[in-house]
Amino acid sequence: MSSQRLESVKNIIAIASGKGGVGKSTVAVNLALALQQLGNKVGILDADIYGPSIPTLFGLKDKQPSVDPEKKKLLPLEKFDLKIMSIGFMMRETDAVVWRGPMIHKMLQQFLEDVDWGDLDYLVIDLPPGTGDAQLSLSQLIPISGAVIVTTPQDMALADVVRGIAMFQKVGIPVAGVIENMSYFQCPHCSEKTDIFSHGGGKRKAEELKTEFLGELPLDPQTREGSDLGKPIVAENRESSQAIRFREIAEKVQSQLKVINQQKPNIQL
Ligand SMILES: Nc1ncnc2c1ncn2[C@@H]1O[C@H](COP(=O)(O)OP(=O)(O)O)[C@@H](O)[C@H]1O
Ligand SMILES: [Mg+2]
Repeated sequence: MSSQRLESVKNIIAIASGKGGVGKSTVAVNLALALQQLGNKVGILDADIYGPSIPTLFGLKDKQPSVDPEKKKLLPLEKFDLKIMSIGFMMRETDAVVWRGPMIHKMLQQFLEDVDWGDLDYLVIDLPPGTGDAQLSLSQLIPISGAVIVTTPQDMALADVVRGIAMFQKVGIPVAGVIENMSYFQCPHCSEKTDIFSHGGGKRKAEELKTEFLGELPLDPQTREGSDLGKPIVAENRESSQAIRFREIAEKVQSQLKVINQQKPNIQL
């Protein structure tokens, strides 16, 4: 593992999920913004080759990163004070992505070595769903500080959480904890809560697997709308209850990473 890689980045957080569609990218973007609002320098890397959605989530669909001719490095785009890089900037939406392990490895390596991330407290990586080549490659390429697993509360999704955690443990990536997204719906008219996909499974599973439960996020129409419009809720409506929840989760992530970093043997190679 190269020690030169990303040495200006203090913590690398991998956002993972068992399945697509659980809100992994939405959580990655808003968590990155919440960490930034807590006073950190933050970057986000979209490594989801099968469905890169970071360009859309930030309203940067037609943009491309530029190249620093002297350093010969790609410069991340910047928005809402975040440094942003996505595999989506490099490929067309219609590109059929039938990528095999070595190509995924090469792509990740380039994003980690050839992008001028600068000094960052946190680099948040939006991984492809599942337990495949990207997860394995990352574990070989860089020291991930912690994986955050996003799930919805129903049993089907939770079975994948178990698989995800087992895989991270196997490749030596510490698990920072589990977030339950689309946890419930609160009626904006009568305030009654409805557990659309059941509720509380994420917390139960986290306890069962002895990992931290980082918090729950309700289904929220403003969150969905913000994602579609390229205006993430945490940036656009800082005082919304969803933004407050994201900052609470970000604080938990920070303290979990501190615990993980303290447990690491301090060997300088
Ligand atoms: N808490 C939430 N409330 C409402 N809509 C959400 C929430 N989380 C995600 N979504 C919506 O669900 C869809 C899938 O989310 P996305 O982040 O793209 O999932 P994934 O990256 O896991 O495939 C998007 O339309 C997104 O706006
Ligand atoms: Mg996604």
